[in-house]
Amino acid sequence: MKYLFACALALASSLASQAQAADPPNARQELTDVFRVTPNITRGGRLFSACISCHGRDGNGQPQGNVPAIAQQHQRVIAKQLVDYRHAERWDLQMEDVASTHRLGPARDIADLSAYVSGLPREAPEGTGDGRNVEHGGRVYLRDCAGCHGAEAEGNGVTLVPRLAGQHYRYLLRQLHDTIEERRPNMPPPHPQLFEPMAVDDFTGIADYLSRLKPARRVLAR
Ligand code: HEC
Ligand code: HEC
Repeated sequence: MKYLFACALALASSLASQAQAADPPNARQELTDVFRVTPNITRGGRLFSACISCHGRDGNGQPQGNVPAIAQQHQRVIAKQLVDYRHAERWDLQMEDVASTHRLGPARDIADLSAYVSGLPREAPEGTGDGRNVEHGGRVYLRDCAGCHGAEAEGNGVTLVPRLAGQHYRYLLRQLHDTIEERRPNMPPPHPQLFEPMAVDDFTGIADYLSRLKPARRVLAR
């Protein structure tokens, strides 16, 4: 009896440690694991079948802006977003489900998938604003944002700054509002501080300006 009890205990503790080993690590650790993987793009292309119903076969998203373009986004930025959704560091019911461990495997899957997506070509920009505040938006962008996001809004994969050029207008506008209204926890400072004093015309202008920039220019990570 005593022996059986000891066996049961041993079994329970080994199951517990297995469960622990299978637990996804925290966001920071998981992203480090992703960056260590040498991606297999062919494999990433197969995993991408789970994304096309919303982002399209070409990864260009939906011009009306409910689904962003992800083609040509920097690989490391895509990976970070997937990890963030998985760990509820960024909120969106659909993407939290897509990125959960039930649907997407560990670090290797995220690395393969993001490498494939980042290599997809981008179409000419579509899904822009009404054009009224573009010039104003461009001035504000160059003053407040270009220091990090780049003069051509090309972003920087190394420092994990997203490419914004050619992103859909309505999607961009939503991210700006989500940040102000604290619905996008992974938006780092100084975004809330920069957005806080802005007026509607600043937001629509910036989003419209960015949505019209040519996205296809390949800028190597610096
Ligand atoms: C059911 C629809 C749907 C599916 C399927 C889906 N997505 Fe998304 N995706 C969205 C929506 C909607 C957003 C914007 C969410 C938000 O506002 O945070 C998004 C956002 C993203 C972002 C963030 C983009 C950015 O610019 O920050 C990435 C990266 C992404 N998706 C990758 C993927 C990948 C990879 C897959 C396949 C494994 C996938 N998505 C499947 C709807 C979907
Ligand atoms: C100090 C550097 C820095 C500055 C300045 C900055 N950003 Fe960002 N921005 C980032 C980083 C880093 C991210 C990625 C956050 C994350 O991991 O989700 C980001 C993300 C974003 C996103 C989300 C992109 C997406 O695909 O969902 C938008 C939109 C954005 N920034 C707009 C702006 C605007 C507009 C300004 C100027 C008013 C600005 N940023 C200024 C560094 C900066």
